[in-house]
Amino acid sequence: MDRWSRLLILVWVVTGLVAGDCPSGWISHRDSCYFFSNHNRNWYDAGFMCEAIHSRRVTIDSNDENDFLAGTLTHFRGAFRSVSFWTEGTSEGSSDGSYKWATSQDPVTYNNWGKNEPNATIGDCFILRLDRTWQSRDCHSEQGFVCESSNIQKNCLPTEGPTLIG
Ligand SMILES: *[C@@H]1O[C@H](CO)[C@@H](O)[C@H](O)[C@H]1NC(C)=O
Repeated sequence: MDRWSRLLILVWVVTGLVAGDCPSGWISHRDSCYFFSNHNRNWYDAGFMCEAIHSRRVTIDSNDENDFLAGTLTHFRGAFRSVSFWTEGTSEGSSDGSYKWATSQDPVTYNNWGKNEPNATIGDCFILRLDRTWQSRDCHSEQGFVCESSNIQKNCLPTEGPTLIG
């Protein structure tokens, strides 16, 4: 069994146990469904892949959500090829270097930057690490990624989402 199959099975088990109202392959937390990809992509391609399954790269709005994401990623860490996962966050296109969630253009309010972060010299986009901290990355570099679908869109999620990404 390859790592992708193992991840799917783990996700299905967790989804079945805790999830309620997310389709199989997605993990529910509060009002969102999350898809944890075990593929590495650049920030742009990660965005296209999340869009293809009716979601967005993850936005992190609270310490609770940050803990949930880092905890889930750590729990399944053996299934991933990365310890760094793209979020929607970027300062691309911003004249003052401020960070926004790309699709909504909402400002990034909650944050959990690591030491000496953010660092625009490294790149405009940022990732969440297994250790819970956020770090700047070159948007063209390949990282893991997490997709999120808010409550409103839940009913539209294709149950084949993970298959599409895999
Ligand atoms: C930002 O990153 C650059 C390139 O890696 C490095 O030289 C610089 O020291 C970093 N700045 C801070 C404040 O850590």
